[in-house]
Amino acid sequence: MYTELYDDAVGLPSTIDPRDTNLNKMIITIDGPAGTGKSSVALEVARVLGFDFLDTGAMYRAIGLAALRREIDLDDKRELAFVAVHSRIWFDWSKRPPAVMLNGEAVTHLLRSGEATRAASYVAVVPAIREMLVRQQQAIGRERANLVTEGRDQGTIVFPEAEFKYYLDAKPEERARRRTAQLRARGEIVDPTEILNQIVTRDKRDREREVGPLSIPKDARIIDTTTITQEEVIKRIVAEVQSRATVS
Ligand code: DC
Repeated sequence: MYTELYDDAVGLPSTIDPRDTNLNKMIITIDGPAGTGKSSVALEVARVLGFDFLDTGAMYRAIGLAALRREIDLDDKRELAFVAVHSRIWFDWSKRPPAVMLNGEAVTHLLRSGEATRAASYVAVVPAIREMLVRQQQAIGRERANLVTEGRDQGTIVFPEAEFKYYLDAKPEERARRRTAQLRARGEIVDPTEILNQIVTRDKRDREREVGPLSIPKDARIIDTTTITQEEVIKRIVAEVQSRATVS
């Protein structure tokens, strides 16, 4: 599934050697709603720059998967928090992209199903779980030398001091069109209007939740991806980082 998510990532050559530059302990955050190509962009930017890549949505999805397996009521926040506390989620950094491990099992390929996606959206509104994952993400930020991290709250809550912050956006209609094409390519029969409605509803929920809402970091660069290619987005970010983080 990851390959599916990232298979449109472009193969820019890696033009930077982190050992030759002052890219020491640098964090780049990429936030934004679903369907803006954030994950593919973040993964490719990380590859070109030689940084690690952190997919924070995968952590919410892994807890969602654990909750599904225990067949708990997704509306029950206490039960969800209990599952989260008793789930050990970590990344196997030897894989590219890093493999998501849930209680010792590699689960990356299970995280993008419709069910896990839905479960993750319940997990994401539980304050105790957000606090736990924010702390874990900050620990990863301290442990990994250089990081490109993507999610909804990376530039606002998790890494407010990040050197580079981006916010990717696109018109809901375009995001719905991309999502419809992706699902059809998988052989699924989908109704584009239904997809658009889901996107609009999810955006509203993401922006209005009390803890860690999707919002634009005040010092972020906003990139509207509605009419530009993913390759262009990647090139812009890489060029900006390279121009500001020059050989010391
Ligand atoms: O980016 P994604 O689709 O993999 O995210 C899965 C879910 O987790 C989605 O409901 C948004 C939520 N999420 C979040 O609330 N905060 C993050 N930092 C990352 C994801």
